[in-house]
Amino acid sequence: MIKHFLFLSYLVATFFFIFGLKFMSHPRTAARGNRIGIIGAALAVLATLFFYDGGFGIAHQWYWLIIGLALGAWIGYHMAMRVEMTQMPEMVSVFNGFGGASAMLISIASYLQVTLPQEHDVAQFLEQLKVLLQKQTGNLEGYMLLTLSNLFVGATAFTGSMVAYGKLSGKLRKDWVSKYQQIINVALLAGYIVYMFVLVYGSDQWGVWHILPLTLIGLYYGISFVMPIGGGDMPVAISLLNAFTGVTTMLTGFLYDNWAMITGGILVGSSGTILTVLMCQAMNRSLWNVITGALVAAKGKTIEGSVKTIDPSDAAILLAYANRVIIVPGYGMARAQAQHRIHELEKQLRERGVEVYYAIHPVAGRMPGHMNVLLAEADVPYELLIEMEQANELMPQTDVAVVIGANDVVNPSAKEDPSSPIYGMPIIEVDKAKQVIVIKRGMGKGYAGIENPLFYKENTRMLFNDAKKAVESILNELKNL
Ligand code: TAP
Repeated sequence: MIKHFLFLSYLVATFFFIFGLKFMSHPRTAARGNRIGIIGAALAVLATLFFYDGGFGIAHQWYWLIIGLALGAWIGYHMAMRVEMTQMPEMVSVFNGFGGASAMLISIASYLQVTLPQEHDVAQFLEQLKVLLQKQTGNLEGYMLLTLSNLFVGATAFTGSMVAYGKLSGKLRKDWVSKYQQIINVALLAGYIVYMFVLVYGSDQWGVWHILPLTLIGLYYGISFVMPIGGGDMPVAISLLNAFTGVTTMLTGFLYDNWAMITGGILVGSSGTILTVLMCQAMNRSLWNVITGALVAAKGKTIEGSVKTIDPSDAAILLAYANRVIIVPGYGMARAQAQHRIHELEKQLRERGVEVYYAIHPVAGRMPGHMNVLLAEADVPYELLIEMEQANELMPQTDVAVVIGANDVVNPSAKEDPSSPIYGMPIIEVDKAKQVIVIKRGMGKGYAGIENPLFYKENTRMLFNDAKKAVESILNELKNL
């Protein structure tokens, strides 16, 4: 009877997850989707506590669960409350890494559960375990394959996410650049798979010690595939790591016959994979190259020349008398929290009869949908947001392109310089507009850490200031026109 309650609760939790994801697909309903997901997760946790394996009795040691839950909730709450909006992607990476770490620890525990009694010949314990496992996965070898696959994916997600965190937060500035990176990574991946199969099917005695090299390979692989990723390719790696954590959750669900984990893991794994594939397409990268760490950072050319500046009053004149203006926001808009003032500028221009659009690059900012979320928060009408392809079509007939705190996503090196780390990545081609105004604080580089020839082009004018202050001063000047 109690088993039915458990199954029913997991089913309801799964519906919550699905609806949560559905709502998350639009910026306006994303917060609601998040809350629905939280309710689903809370339901699954409570159901496990109360109904798993006959009730609270799981539970001989239920207080460990309560201590873990309380500690995790406390740390998570304080981290989330303190984080700045622009540091959100780093925090997501850390949380993702924790998910991977817990999958890794569960796999180690599962491996030890099987191999320790085997070595000490606790025959009776092993028999009991075999009965349990056969119920869940059919056979002990299957269980071991699941455990070791989970170990690899979990360990990789853990170290990979921690390296991603280091890179996003600027704590890890170096990219490993080795000609042999792809070969090393393919060898590690293939080596692990062969080791796993030989271990599981090659002998009856699974030595406890094997867990150590296997864990180390998984941990090292995570570092080795994220470390070399440079330029603007980190979003693809992060999205892939997120998919990995979904897969580990699913595998752990199989290990423990937990349906909420299986369905939740499938949802995260599949949506993460879809996102990764879309990101790869947007960045013109191949998924195989991401997995095997072939996106090695390059250096790019240095640029000589001088830049031309513009003051807010001339910028206001250019904008007020334009027919069409395209605004290209980037990470600097998020840093300056300039979205509300930008919306004000767009409203005033539209009142004057100027056609205004926002061009959104798929990896502008630091997380998928970063710009969409900020602009939705400022109540920018969704119809004014256009995608990169459409923006590029409109660009030659655009009087002014206003780049606000964006850099890499408008960098023409992606098209013109084969030695550039972002070569091949599609960009918003603002240099095709009649005039370009670039608003940023100085000549600071973007995330990829490279020079941007756009700033030196004939039709580009730089307005050096914090994005919010710059837009405010343009607004002030507009009043006098
Ligand atoms: P970036 O290339 O990172 O450039 C941002 C620019 O904003 C900087 O050059 C900086 O120049 C300027 N800036 C910073 N604070 C500012 C402020 N308060 N006011 C005005 N300007 C300010 O941004 P992007 O064009 O949006 O490109 C995103 C990059 O991040 C890509 O390389 C992408 O691959 C990577 N990335 C994206 C994601 C996702 S999923 N979106 C995740 C990880 C990494 P100054 O210092 O001179 O002001």
